[in-house]
This record gives sequence, C-alpha cells and structure tokens, in this order.
Amino acid sequence: MQNQKFNLTGKTALITGAGGLLGVEHAAALLECGAHVVLTDISAGLLAAAHERLGASALLVEVFTMDVSQPEQVAGVAQSLRAAGMRIDILVNNAAIDPKMKGGTGMVESTRLENFPLEQWNEQVAVGLTGAFLCSQAFGTLMAQDGRGGVILNIASDLSVFSPDQRLYRKAGLPDDMQPVKPVTYSVIKTGLIGLTRYLATYWAEQGVRANALSPGGVFNGQDEGFVQKLSSLIPLGRMAQRDEYRSAVQFLCSDASSYMNGQNIVMDAGRSAW
Ligand SMILES: NC(=O)c1ccc[n+]([C@@H]2O[C@H](COP(=O)([O-])OP(=O)(O)OC[C@H]3O[C@@H](n4cnc5c(N)ncnc54)[C@H](O)[C@@H]3O)[C@@H](O)[C@H]2O)c1
Repeated sequence: MQNQKFNLTGKTALITGAGGLLGVEHAAALLECGAHVVLTDISAGLLAAAHERLGASALLVEVFTMDVSQPEQVAGVAQSLRAAGMRIDILVNNAAIDPKMKGGTGMVESTRLENFPLEQWNEQVAVGLTGAFLCSQAFGTLMAQDGRGGVILNIASDLSVFSPDQRLYRKAGLPDDMQPVKPVTYSVIKTGLIGLTRYLATYWAEQGVRANALSPGGVFNGQDEGFVQKLSSLIPLGRMAQRDEYRSAVQFLCSDASSYMNGQNIVMDAGRSAW
C-alpha cells in the first residue's frame, strides 16, 4: 500500500450486520488494509456465506452471531474477545433492518405513517439506533479505557440529510392511502445516528476515540427497472452505486488517513443531495 496511513495491520475491526450486502464490502475493505475482522450478524447463515465470500485467511477473520439489540449478546461477544486477548480498534455500526416496500401485498399500507405499527417502530429503532448505541457503549468504552483509542464508524444513509422522495416507491393502480412509502423509522434512525456520531466524537475525544458517519446512497442490487430509472433521474451522476464503491471511504474513515476527521458525516450520494 502506497500511503501508510491506510495501513491497518495489527488492528482489529468489528462489523455489525456483516452478513448483509454492504457488511461484506466493509469487511473486504478493511481486510484489504491489513486489518483483522470480526464479522457479527444476527444470522449465522448469512455470516457463514459472508465468511466464504471473503475468502480470507482464517487467521484474519472471526465470526460471532450477535443481535445488536440485545445488550447481553453484545456484552458476551466483548467478553469472548477479551478472553481471547483481542482488542477492538475499529467498530463499524452497520446493522439495520431493511424495510421492504413491495406494494400491492395487502400489508404495504402499514408502512404509511398513519398505520405504522408501534412494534415495527420499536423493532427497527432497536436494531438501527439502539444497537449502534449498545455496541458503541460496549466496545467504545473499552477503546477509551486503555488509552489506545479507536474509531467508530456509523453507517447512516443519504436519508440522514434529506427526506425520502416517496414518489420513488409509488405503484401504479394503487389508491393513495395504499401506496407504499419508505417508513418513518428509516429517516429517524439514520438522522439519529448522526446525532450519536457527534456525541461520541466529543465524548471520548480526549481518550483518542474518533467517531464519524458514512451516508451511502442507494446500492444497485437487482431492484426493478422502473425504480432504478426513477431513482437514477434524481442523481446527478445518473446511476445507483455499485456495492464496492464505498470501500475506499470505509478505509479512509477507519484508518489514520482520517486522523483529523471527527464527528462528521460523509455523504456519498453521487450528488443527489447537491441537487
Ligand atoms: N444498500 C443500500 O442501498 C444502502 C444505502 C444506504 C445505507 N445503507 C445502510 O447500510 C447498512 C447495510 O445495508 P445493507 O444494504 O447491507 O443491508 P442488508 O439488509 O443487506 O444487511 C443488514 C444486515 O444486518 C443484519 N441484522 C438485522 N438485524 C440485526 C440485528 N438485530 N443484529 C445484528 N444484525 C442484524 C441482517 O441479518 C443483515 O445481514 C444499513 O445500515 C443500511 O441502512 C444501505
């Protein structure tokens, strides 16, 4: 590697939701920089698949099933890692529940604010926001305590800086009150993560713990053509992201390359928020 500031050799990064679309990419990005990665996810099956896809040396990858919304599971992983003599230098809070808005299922109207079920609010906030708090509490405290500092990266979304354009999710032939929408939880969780980022950035600054957020725009993952076209028309670069296009930002934010960046939110949206 040319710039030694990106070198993560000797560092260990824990990623939540590592079995998902972007979690694997974050892991690959950090492995590329020489980090040891700890993959965690609620789904053992997704974790196993992610581990296989990474194809990394077993010496560089640990895998733990962990539900970020369950404090005892988070504490259990922290304890297991400590018992194994491992220190987490980098925490990537990436886990989230991705609400699907398929439309016309008979269930879809429940994504609308008027009908949005409290249980779904609680469940999604518990993972996307409370989970980031619980992991930051468990692993950030350890980073701060031994004086060696660390990095917390919260994966937010371009929807942390603007409101969803609900026209994107409209389905032809459905009455207005049955139209699917991006649920309120997504905006609240992603905006909340920016507040958490700023709080953490100042709270442990003296202990050398930095916190930043990355706000990706939509990743192309086989969505239907109509949706992709509508979304692309809102993006100055005219397309959705490829899944690996956030890797370099993750490398920057998790390494000394960003040593003077703290409490910020990098919005990588191909210019959508500039329009
Ligand atoms: N994919 C995109 O277009 C996009 C765009 C902007 C932001 N993001 C954000 O990036 C992050 C990753 O998104 P993704 O597309 O990879 O989503 P994904 O749904 O593919 O992955 C999320 C992962 O989180 C895991 N998870 C769910 N509940 C959990 C829990 N309680 N504890 C631990 N793990 C849990 C899931 O099993 C899954 O593997 C999310 O925070 C998402 O909001 C994604």
